[in-house]
Amino acid sequence: MKKPLENIRVLDLSRFMAGPICGKILADLGADVLKVEPPWGDEMRYTPPLVKQASPMFLDFNRGKKGLTLNLKTEQGVKILKALVEDADVVIENFSVGTMERLGVGYEVLREINPRIILVSITGFGQYGPRSGHHSFDMIGQATSGFMYLNGKEASEALGKELPPLLLPDAMADSVPGSYAALGVLAALNYRSQTGVGQWVDIAQQDVMMYISNSLVLYPATGATFLESMRRYRVGVYDIFQAKDGHIAIAAPSGATVDRLTGLLGVESVDDDIVSEWVKARSVEEAMAELVKSDIPASPIFTIDDIVEDPQAKAREMFLEVDHPGIGMMGLTGIPIKFSETPLKVESRAPTLGQDTEEILRKLGYSFDEIKKLRNDGVV
Ligand SMILES: CC(C)(COP(=O)(O)OP(=O)(O)OC[C@H]1O[C@@H](n2cnc3c(N)ncnc32)[C@H](O)[C@@H]1OP(=O)(O)O)[C@@H](O)C(=O)NCCC(=O)NCCS
Repeated sequence: MKKPLENIRVLDLSRFMAGPICGKILADLGADVLKVEPPWGDEMRYTPPLVKQASPMFLDFNRGKKGLTLNLKTEQGVKILKALVEDADVVIENFSVGTMERLGVGYEVLREINPRIILVSITGFGQYGPRSGHHSFDMIGQATSGFMYLNGKEASEALGKELPPLLLPDAMADSVPGSYAALGVLAALNYRSQTGVGQWVDIAQQDVMMYISNSLVLYPATGATFLESMRRYRVGVYDIFQAKDGHIAIAAPSGATVDRLTGLLGVESVDDDIVSEWVKARSVEEAMAELVKSDIPASPIFTIDDIVEDPQAKAREMFLEVDHPGIGMMGLTGIPIKFSETPLKVESRAPTLGQDTEEILRKLGYSFDEIKKLRNDGVV
């Protein structure tokens, strides 16, 4: 069966998380993604925690990709990359600003080789601006976009004591910018299909995290952050409540859900105290049954174990086990975009270091002896 990005060839030079996540999305959508690593490998391969000497996160971020090793600090390595660019559609990189140029494979060089090429660069601050040269990880993306400040402020208010700024979990300032990079690639592909011209897609962690911040829009206009606004202006409830045997999240901030909640509770208007009393008198299961029956958005607070076993997540194939040679079965998350015409499955695991090097070089016309020499010279 055809896949949405089946004809698209991607060279993924990126490492750690933000770049590889962009490549993962394109691979999940069916693109032919070749992960190009230095012979010493993407650092993420060796970043703990390791299970049977493999990084579960590396296996997830690089699933569905082929693997080539290439030392871009050698003339031969750069020559091989340039040959691959001739036939590629997209190049992904997340080095610090100027590294691609230093390696001799900056956008101008790539464009010269293939004017249709789309280069996507992910950095902390983008290719220009006073901080563009600064290095960055998720932590910095969160610090410079307000999320770390907002998370600390919200936790302080919830606990009623002053807490320091707090990091959001799961490296959001990598995965979200990585996703926007994939979005940029898709838009650039559409532009190219109309004009025949590629382009450089410049993605900054700070920019993307600002783009998704509701508080950045609300605060300058109202003096209230998103959650403060929800508390100050809502007519219903939007909070976490304690039941007899656990917690329940209820989201009925405005509109028809508030009417349904007041109807369910048999009151004129709801507030946190009324809902607290109602939830407190019930088990999670009892309260959930009534809330769901009344079409009120509500949920128990799932742990990771709950999610892995969740029948809804199972029905949507959002957690899968993939067999990795020498490692065994490892859980990966499923593909969240469901297509009616081109349904998708994660079909192949992450590459072992350089697993397809020989095949790729053979396709480029290198003989076995030449490949052996490239290996001996530390090029691949
Ligand atoms: C992540 C980051 C902080 C790492 O910093 P770093 O390890 O000093 O890496 P840089 O990007 O500056 O440089 C990468 C080095 O690897 C080298 N390299 C990369 N791929 C190579 C290859 N295939 N062969 C040989 N060398 C390679 C580069 O030439 C460069 O070395 P140099 O500085 O001697 O030229 C930095 O890359 C960065 O800020 N990236 C942008 C933001 C980002 O994506 N962060 C990670 C989020 S998960």
